[in-house]
Amino acid sequence: MIARDGANTSLWQDTAAFQPGQQVSTDTVFDVLVVGGGITGLSTALALQQQGKKCVLAEAWTLGFGTSGGTTAHLNNFFDEPYYRVSKHFGPDNARLLATAAKEALTAMERNISDYQISCGYSRRPAYLFATDAAQAEELERMSEGTQDAGVDMAYINESPFPIPYQRIAQLPGQGQFHPTQYLHGLARAFESLGGLILEQCAVHELEHRGQQINASTDRGILKALYAVYATHIPPGVNLVHFRCAPYRSYVMAFRLRSGNYPQALGYDLADPYHYYRTQEVNGQQYLIAGGADHKTAHEDNTERPFRELEACVRQYFDVASVDYRWSSQYYESVDGLPFIGQLPGNPANVFTATAFGGNGMIYGTIAARVLSELITTGESAYKTLFEPARIKPAAAFHNFVSENAAVIKSFVAGKFAAESIPGLASLAAGEAKLVRMEHSRIALFKDEAHRLYAVNPTCTHVQCTVAWNQAERSWDCPCHGARFSPEGKVLNGPARKPLEPVQITGL
Ligand code: FES
Repeated sequence: MIARDGANTSLWQDTAAFQPGQQVSTDTVFDVLVVGGGITGLSTALALQQQGKKCVLAEAWTLGFGTSGGTTAHLNNFFDEPYYRVSKHFGPDNARLLATAAKEALTAMERNISDYQISCGYSRRPAYLFATDAAQAEELERMSEGTQDAGVDMAYINESPFPIPYQRIAQLPGQGQFHPTQYLHGLARAFESLGGLILEQCAVHELEHRGQQINASTDRGILKALYAVYATHIPPGVNLVHFRCAPYRSYVMAFRLRSGNYPQALGYDLADPYHYYRTQEVNGQQYLIAGGADHKTAHEDNTERPFRELEACVRQYFDVASVDYRWSSQYYESVDGLPFIGQLPGNPANVFTATAFGGNGMIYGTIAARVLSELITTGESAYKTLFEPARIKPAAAFHNFVSENAAVIKSFVAGKFAAESIPGLASLAAGEAKLVRMEHSRIALFKDEAHRLYAVNPTCTHVQCTVAWNQAERSWDCPCHGARFSPEGKVLNGPARKPLEPVQITGL
């Protein structure tokens, strides 16, 4: 079983974890330190190692622990940010450039699968976008025009492989799908076979710059490198990009169907938030994988509700025999709809990042590998300007976005408390969490099924927002920039670097 950043296990993480070949740190000065063992980190490390760079990949947990193990792995040449909006904000040439990036990423994945014989259930599939009402039909029309203008095939058709009613439906041929952790493990094996070093359980804490060299303090001592890449979903620390991204949660369920009638295609409605569907065979069993019910991180009081909503939506159209897996996953949206890939603003020139992939993590992670490896090996990339993290965004988009990140609430510092002084503690049930407000303090409490009590200061260690409980994944989630913490306060997701402060409760 692959460990993950939440209490639920995804379909993809219900499999053996990767076993790195070597788990010892060395005194070598590497060319590149890649931080993070998801799609971006592994693809980038492999691309650089292929080009003769000597790389080390450091992962704080295990490969596929985070969003790459919780994705639904739709491999598309279209994006959550439709081409017509990219064209409007960045110009038609850049919309076509984005389409080229997606096409090249799909080809790069196919090449990896073929060159390294990665068995990951990969197949090409058509995608279907369905409009279920008049407003969605108008949006579909805009999307269709913009997509074709960008050079991507999209055409209206009159039939659907999905039993979901629609007003209009369009098909995009040549999309892809695979089992994401099998693909990640294949990349990891290829990286190691080329001499790359993978260190799991190796959180990177700080980068110290000594001339051209970076000395990274990690759980396994100092790692030295000439370049560093933060492939950590969002870079740690406090950075410009944190204020230009918003974190969201998406919900996913894997179903077995009575009929055995699994649509062999990718499907999307145009609701807001939209629902997405596909099928994958895993260990001889077909699953319908459906996702949706997204919300901003820590902006849903009851995180069981989105699962109920998603399941009800699927049961409306499919003859569900069983729900075999359910999990939620995090993604970041940028202010202008495009990711940030390149040099990390406010850092020396040899520090890079890739973030804000929206719901298109597999493709953007692969695009990032190309862009970052080109920037590191040559200093240039055809995509450098398009994805530049320090770019100026379209003003209109930025205006809307500011309110997205305005949920900063000051919390008070906690410390040491007598149990009898904490309101509601005596009535806290097993499996329940509470944010207790006292006169000068707040305490985040969780009691597990064994009646063990976890008490932490709810002030996020990133920039001091107050975390909220995520019951479905049993984590404390920050509404501001998406840091997530385990009940005992360990960092599950950045950008926070430090755990939540423990609170001592006496007299229990
Ligand atoms: Fe930024 Fe919590 S993630 S304040």
